[in-house]
Amino acid sequence: MNPRLQFAVDLARQVGALLREGYGRASQVRHKEASIDLVTEYDLRSEQLLVDGIRDAFPEDAILAEEGGSEGQSESCWWIDPLDGTTNFAHGLPIFAICLTYARAGCPTLGVVHDPMRQETFYAEDGGGAWLDGQRLHVSQTHSLDESLLVTGFPYDIRTNPENNLDHFAALALRSRGVRRLGAAALDLAYVAAGRFDGYWELRLWPWDWGAGILLVREAGGRVSRMDGGEDIFAEPTSLLATNGHIHAAMLEALNPSRRHAG
Ligand code: IPD
Ligand code: CA
Ligand code: CA
Repeated sequence: MNPRLQFAVDLARQVGALLREGYGRASQVRHKEASIDLVTEYDLRSEQLLVDGIRDAFPEDAILAEEGGSEGQSESCWWIDPLDGTTNFAHGLPIFAICLTYARAGCPTLGVVHDPMRQETFYAEDGGGAWLDGQRLHVSQTHSLDESLLVTGFPYDIRTNPENNLDHFAALALRSRGVRRLGAAALDLAYVAAGRFDGYWELRLWPWDWGAGILLVREAGGRVSRMDGGEDIFAEPTSLLATNGHIHAAMLEALNPSRRHAG
């Protein structure tokens, strides 16, 4: 394995032990700007350990961390989501992950999504495939939306922003086998890569949410675009559609009912 990727896998697993230990024990739950956007002491402790680990190993690299913001200037940058699924964690629901992305010149090249409760580590390298604990990952072979199991998420400003995904949720719930809402974007994407879901979409995500996940999906043979079909997923905040490829056009059509997509 690429030594940087091995480093990221080891670090995520090591820090994952803290989240596993802290599961069910969060006592300091605060709100960020949006009234439903939470942060716990474990988000902060996890981030500190991840940042320290990266600083020690790669002092030249820049860091973009969800809670602490960015530091350093470099072509090499680590995007850190220290606890993806904070709301689940704070409520004692065991669905959350650490998401680490290593980007070169703004493009994810290595990514790790580690689930401390199921002890599953998903990782990918640009051009090197997507893996789950040593097993190569492939997206599902579902060809029709009708037979698809989908997953989505809702933005934290759902109460105040009319573009809140409820319309898309309603449309796709009627056209698929089901739409899940797990509450951890990095795991949603990892599960598309693993073929557990056939497609995922979400509005207004940040690089620390999707960096590793889009690499996983692409390396597992899937397709990623913006929700309107555009390819520039870097224009922030990102709206993302990630699928097994086979249902991409059908999902684009369902998400953009006034437009038709060729494929
Ligand atoms: C959130 C989760 C959630 C998604 C939100 C994300 P956080 O990340 O991934 O599933 O719907 O858009 O912000 O705040 O738990 O790291
Ligand atoms: Ca997140
Ligand atoms: Ca987070």
